[in-house]
Amino acid sequence: MRWWDVEPVLGLERVLFPEDAWSAGLFWSELAHARGPGATRRYLVAEAPGDGGGQSLVGYGGLAAVGGTGDIQTIGVLPSWRRAGLGARLLGELLATAAEFGCHEVMLEVRVDNAPAQRLYERFGFTRIGMRRGYYQPGNVDALVMRLENPAAARTPSPPGPANPPDSVNSSDSSPTSTNPPQGTKTHG
Ligand SMILES: CC(C)(COP(=O)(O)OP(=O)(O)OC[C@H]1O[C@@H](n2cnc3c(N)ncnc32)[C@H](O)[C@@H]1OP(=O)(O)O)[C@@H](O)C(=O)NCCC(=O)NCCS
Repeated sequence: MRWWDVEPVLGLERVLFPEDAWSAGLFWSELAHARGPGATRRYLVAEAPGDGGGQSLVGYGGLAAVGGTGDIQTIGVLPSWRRAGLGARLLGELLATAAEFGCHEVMLEVRVDNAPAQRLYERFGFTRIGMRRGYYQPGNVDALVMRLENPAAARTPSPPGPANPPDSVNSSDSSPTSTNPPQGTKTHG
């Protein structure tokens, strides 16, 4: 994900996370930590051929690395592109990134009522380690905390059938180090 992706990502963000969509400022701040030798983030976009002949954005995801722990900050796929293995591709890339960052574990939060996302994470070997009560506002929805040990050993599960994958999954440039996710931010992954 690069700066020119922020506008289209915000369009998707409002569709995927209508109750607690991230702001443009938050994406800009995340991308600012995704470049250079002290980078602590990597954000990816997935593109598919658009109507006008160009590329259109159909999914994205992001990872933060903090002191050897990776955190899935967000992951989402447009509804019309779901169940084609794209979520798994994005997550697989983020876990490979965590390994590059030298992370020994990857954590995430997911809404207790978000079964598709939980299944995706479990397919990759994430296990449930706890609960954050009332983590998501509005609605006071609890978050399940999930953890994957040793992302370097994680394998992308095979899709169940023939997929129609988007053209590409592109990443922001980055390299290993650390910081915390933005304060007060609710992660979407
Ligand atoms: C969670 C999310 C990212 C998954 O994305 P996705 O692209 O649908 O993920 P995948 O296609 O890799 O896997 C989803 C399902 O499709 C199935 N699938 C994958 N490829 C397939 C194919 N070629 N044919 C049929 N089914 C397929 C998978 O087996 C999986 O099945 P399951 O529902 O039984 O687990 C997506 O549902 C989403 O964006 N949700 C809204 C945002 C969100 O909740 N994000 C997570 C916040 S914590």
